[in-house]
Amino acid sequence: MTAGIKAIRGAALTFTGNPFQVEDEQFVRHESDALIIMEGGVITAFGDYAATRDRLPAGTEVTTYTDALILPGFIDTHVHYSQTQIIGAHGKQLIDWLSNYAYIAEQQFSSLEHGREVAKVFLRECVRAGTTTAMVYCTVYPQSVDAFFEEAEKINVRMIAGKVLMDRHAPPALLDTPRTGYDDSKALLQKWHKRGRQLYCITPRFAPTSSPEQMEMAGALWKEYPDAYLQSHVSEHRDEVAAVRRLFPERSGYLDVYDHYGQLGPRSVLGHGIHLTESELARCHETGTAIAHCPTSNLFLGSGCLNVDNLQRADRPVRVGLATDLGAGTSFSQLQTMNEAYKVAQLNGNALSAWHAYYMATRGAANALYLDDTIGSIEENLEADLMVLDLRSTPLIEYRMRYCKSLEESLFIQMTLADDRATRATYVAGELVYDRDRDQPHSF
Ligand code: GUN
Ligand code: ZN
Repeated sequence: MTAGIKAIRGAALTFTGNPFQVEDEQFVRHESDALIIMEGGVITAFGDYAATRDRLPAGTEVTTYTDALILPGFIDTHVHYSQTQIIGAHGKQLIDWLSNYAYIAEQQFSSLEHGREVAKVFLRECVRAGTTTAMVYCTVYPQSVDAFFEEAEKINVRMIAGKVLMDRHAPPALLDTPRTGYDDSKALLQKWHKRGRQLYCITPRFAPTSSPEQMEMAGALWKEYPDAYLQSHVSEHRDEVAAVRRLFPERSGYLDVYDHYGQLGPRSVLGHGIHLTESELARCHETGTAIAHCPTSNLFLGSGCLNVDNLQRADRPVRVGLATDLGAGTSFSQLQTMNEAYKVAQLNGNALSAWHAYYMATRGAANALYLDDTIGSIEENLEADLMVLDLRSTPLIEYRMRYCKSLEESLFIQMTLADDRATRATYVAGELVYDRDRDQPHSF
């Protein structure tokens, strides 16, 4: 075997354009028998096997995946690693859920050891679900950020994460101050942003838990480091929208709070956005701000149904990526998240196609993160993050697939019926980090 080079063979699918904007399936590339060669963390060749095999360096072993589809690794544009232990906590809507579960679980992250343990579990579950990049909320404790990035670095996954900023309306143990929040975030940013594959994200949790002074300082920090990321929540729940109106009466609406404090623009990703108004969506478009669509979380907390079709309206498209939003979200699996995205769209009167769903979890998510020239597609020179989807991962799926008539139908069957059991393998920067048939979960 040639050192450092990996080659895999099988059916493969990747997006080349945006199905919300391009018609007649001109947005997708499907190879029924592809060869993908990876070296130095990137894809060095991708094409039809017969046409590409002469680019294989002599002696390179090829791993063949049958009854499978090789996809770009999934990208999760909004998730809280610190809430892994409270997934499926019963009851109430956003504000109660935060007080009764999230804020309690997050206090345990004052312990670096606890952070490490949870980060390990979280990253294991990501790769088991075929997710190779996520935009992650840590907690208010800087050590929870170190714990997360240290674990991410060990398996070389490209992660975007940051320390939560929160100086009011939360338990005292979880509060920072405008000054400490700024100083801690800056130190973490300087330590982790662009270290290897890691990227730093300035993280004011949401307008209700940051004072105007903290919002100001978060915006100022982003201005100092404009190539870093910024994340927050917006217009998730109607009660929350009403609270922001009371807390920031001088602002014209929820989005305007972030706008006023210089927090909109490329690489700003706001979770949810269900109740954004037309003028707010136009402002997202204008500034290049992205929305993370979190359907399992929105159904779980009864928050509402984001209209992604409207977000992508041709005259003012808003960038949108799919997201799990654990622990209010209910699955690490982007397949299950697509399943719920379809149902949410149905409730809005649109039958989201499989193309749209897979796009939002791969190239579309990379586009929302301004990383589409780096990850999210299978393309020469892009980073070699791939997931191999087993098309017959359960007896029911095996049976259903016998009646499948098209590629699009097979994608739809998978997103409706499959979950992490369908991840046959996950490659991160060209290395096999998860092989379902080799790895036991506890061996990670
Ligand atoms: N809004 C502010 N914080 C959170 C959170 O942790 N989860 C969700 N779903 N919404 C939030
Ligand atoms: Zn969230």
